[in-house]
This record gives sequence, structure tokens and C-alpha cells, in this order.
Amino acid sequence: MEMDASVLAALAAVILVSILLLLPRLRKHHDGRRLPPGSLGLPAVGLCQTRGLRRALRGNTAEAWLQRWASAYGPVSKLTLFGFPTAFLVGPSANKFFFGSTALVTKTTMSFNRMVGWRNIRELAGDDHRRVRAMMVQFLKLEAVKSYVAAMDDEVRHHLSKEWRGHATISVMPSMKSLTFDIMCTVLFGLTRADHGTAMRELRVEFQQLLRGLWATPVDLPFTTYGKCLAASRRGRRIVARIIEERRTRLGRGGSSPSDDLIAHMLAEGLADEDIIDSVMSLMVAAHDSTASLITFLIRYLDGNRDAYAKVVAEQQEVARSKAPGEALSWKDISNMKYTWSAAMETLRLVPPVFVNFKRAVDDVEFDGHLIPKGWKVMTAASMTHLDPAVFQDPGRFEPARFDKPIPPYSFVAFGGGARMCPGNEFARVEALVAMHYIVTGFKWKLSAGCDGSFSRHPLPSPAHGLLIDIEPIDTGGLLRCST
Ligand code: HEM
Repeated sequence: MEMDASVLAALAAVILVSILLLLPRLRKHHDGRRLPPGSLGLPAVGLCQTRGLRRALRGNTAEAWLQRWASAYGPVSKLTLFGFPTAFLVGPSANKFFFGSTALVTKTTMSFNRMVGWRNIRELAGDDHRRVRAMMVQFLKLEAVKSYVAAMDDEVRHHLSKEWRGHATISVMPSMKSLTFDIMCTVLFGLTRADHGTAMRELRVEFQQLLRGLWATPVDLPFTTYGKCLAASRRGRRIVARIIEERRTRLGRGGSSPSDDLIAHMLAEGLADEDIIDSVMSLMVAAHDSTASLITFLIRYLDGNRDAYAKVVAEQQEVARSKAPGEALSWKDISNMKYTWSAAMETLRLVPPVFVNFKRAVDDVEFDGHLIPKGWKVMTAASMTHLDPAVFQDPGRFEPARFDKPIPPYSFVAFGGGARMCPGNEFARVEALVAMHYIVTGFKWKLSAGCDGSFSRHPLPSPAHGLLIDIEPIDTGGLLRCST
């Protein structure tokens, strides 16, 4: 943390005073209705709970931290997080309630909104949310994603040829972050390496800085993580504004059509520039690290599970054998990658990129005999269900075949659920499969000496050293079909 002790002390004092002011409201009478068990604690205890969870996230013990809490208080409990009374819900029926109840709304924090924009999709509600989500879905639905396979194939081959071929050791996470960022920019926002190479590189740098501040203490000073993140956000927004301007001119000249890319579509639908920027920023935040994390951890799990690795290799080589030299993957090839996708789902089960999900109660609402008062935050954590032995047998074992059978509803929630469920799940599936095809058929890998595959959460899972692997090219691999 880039802050000195006096700033920390001042911050602690501000939080303490705010919580003291809030306390009478939190403790108001609830007509005898039963609040969840647990502890809202004294202000100091609330701060400790938040600090405890933050520390556990950084040390990769957050699952154990939440598990201890749930074991002590049960599937519905209360605690104080980030200064707010919070109901913590665990299990499939809690997930169903969390994703389905109209009394709970998705609400982001003021600090998130300052970074991503006040009209980012997570903050929008009602018709505003439906309108913007529909525009995004137009470009993320299965039919649209099918048409992106060739473009994704080109980006993956270009990236691996440039960044992996000829190298002995790779830091996987940064490599996959830049690959998935470039795929999103080309496929969704219509940027090209030839015309927008510099803008894409600059945007990527700003986003990496921005994402570092997502859970940072919101102190806006030039030397704090949060301050640097806000500055990166301002620079990123200026780049997106220039792209919108360019797209408007092209649309005006008839040089592009609203169906070409999401920015052109939003302009044609009459969305204001600031709203388009907020939407682009939300998509970049939502899509940037999540798929990169999936691919990185899949590579890590396949290294440690040779049976699963052998099955993935067999499946991908079968696909590669059916292709002519230089021929791109097709939608039919993606449909033939079922085992690889099961291995990816198993990875998402064990290391869900989105660790916790928060909503806010807009009314008093009851769950499982407990009152969740209006104004409280409500939190779920996918891992609490994914690692529950009552839901997934032997939950710590990497076993892709468990996805051969239907999974009970609300048990696998890596993509969330209900009206807010991740609209990018098909997009993520296809880009992960295309990337895995060329990695598996183009290279053998093993974790580098001294790299144990451990990771921490910031809040997205970050493997130590980005997951260092030693690679060896495979002579007959799919990457050699590459002409780039
Ligand atoms: C493995 C990759 C990914 C995972 C695990 C993931 C997970 C999630 C989760 C858990 C949510 C919250 C859902 C809820 O509240 O019910 C979400 C929301 C969202 N995701 Fe993803 N995501 C991934 C990739 C992507 C990609 C590639 C895109 C776009 C290209 C995307 C776009 C979005 C958007 C726009 C939302 C906000 C939806 C709304 O509030 O209506 N995601 N994602």
C-alpha cells in the first residue's frame, strides 16, 4: 500500500467517526423480527472484519476466512464490511434468493463509480439497465459470438507467435490479460492492430493501472493506489472519447454501419457519449481479467492433473488433424471441444474469478426466517457453494467429468445468475477455447522451478509471478498452421 502512516491514521479516524454516526441507524428496532446471527460489532470490530477479509484475500485464505465465519454463524449471518452492515448468504437456495429477489439491487460503491463511470452497467437499474444490457447482448449473444471465431483465432495466433514462440519461459497471466484485452478491442469495439495499435496499447496500460485500485482504500491523492487509478481512468476515458469521435465521423461518411461494432451501435441508438464511455469502461473491467484468469488457472490445473491434460491434448489434436495448413478454427471445431470446456468449468468452480458479489436491500426482506433490513448490503461468495462437499463431492479434487452430468440449479455460480447474469459467458467460453487450442497443440509446459502455482486475490486471483511456466514448442502443433 502506497500510503504513509499519517494518511492511514486520518483515514481510520474518518471511517470510525462515520461508523459511530451510522451506528444508531444500524441498531434501530426491527419489530421483534430476527436479524441474522453474527456480529455487527463495535466500529472497531467492523474495521477488523474488513481488514481481516482484505488480508485473507491477499494471503489466499479468503475461502477459509469465510468458511470459519459461516461455520460459526450458519448459512445466513451478519457482519460489518467496508463500514456497512452486511448479510452474508451461503448455499444454493441462498444463491437463488440473491440472484432472484427484487428487493435486492446491484449497487456499486462510490469509489467504483468514480473509476468506471456513474452510469456503468452495474450501477444502472430498471429500463436504463435493460436498454444498455440489450445493446451489449446484441454483440455478446451466441449468434454474434459464432461469427467472432475467425477473428479470435487470428488474435490468438498473432499473440502466441509474437509473445510465446522463441521464448523459454512465460508469465502466463500478463500474457493472457493482453491477449483477452486485444480480442475484446478488435471484436467488440472494432479496433484494428493496423489503425489503432497505439490506442489499444495505451488503453491496456491504463486499464491495468485502473484495475489495481478496485478494492483500494478510496483516498484520492496523487501517490495513493486509488489516486493513481483515478488518473488512469481519466486518461482511459479520453482515449475512448477519441475512438467514439472517430466512429461518429466514419458513420457520418457511410464508412461503417451500426452493426459493425458496439460503439457504432450505441451511437446509432442515440446513447450519449458519456454513457457510451461508461459502458465501454464497464465492459473492459468485466471482461479484462476474468477470462485471462480462467485460461491461466486452467493451464495451472492441467500441469498438476496429467489425466485431464492427456484428455484435453487428445481432444485438441483431433480438432487440429481435421484442419488444413493455415486454416482458422470454425464454430464446428469449438463445438467439438466439450472436454476442454468441462476442464475450464472445473477451473471456474475451484478458482472463480469473481470471488464475492454484493447487492443492497431496497426493502426489508426475509430469507430463511431472518430479516435483512432495508439499506443493508447482501453478499454471496461463489466458492462457498463450489467447495461445499454437500454440493460437489470431494470438492477440492480437479475432476472435469463432474460436468458431464447436469449440475443442480444455483450450485455453479461463477457467472452469477438472474437478470444480472454475466452476458459475456459465451464470449469467454469461445475465447478461452480458441486460446487453449493453440496453447495445447503448440506447446508443452511445466511450472518453472520455484513457481508453486500459489495465488492471492486483488480481488481477482493473481498467481505468484503471474504463473511462470517453461515452454517447449511442439513440432506438429496447431500453431505451426499459423501464417502470421
Ligand atoms: C470467465 C470469464 C468471466 C466470468 C467468470 C464472469 C463473471 C461475471 C459475474 C459473476 C458477473 C456478475 C453477475 C451477477 O451479478 O449475477 C458478471 C457480470 C458481467 N459480465 Fe462477466 N464474467 C466473465 C467474462 C466476461 C466477458 C468476456 C464479458 C464481456 C465481453 C463480460 C461482461 C459482463 C458484464 C457486462 C456484466 C454486467 C452484467 C449486468 O450487470 O447486467 N464478462 N460477470
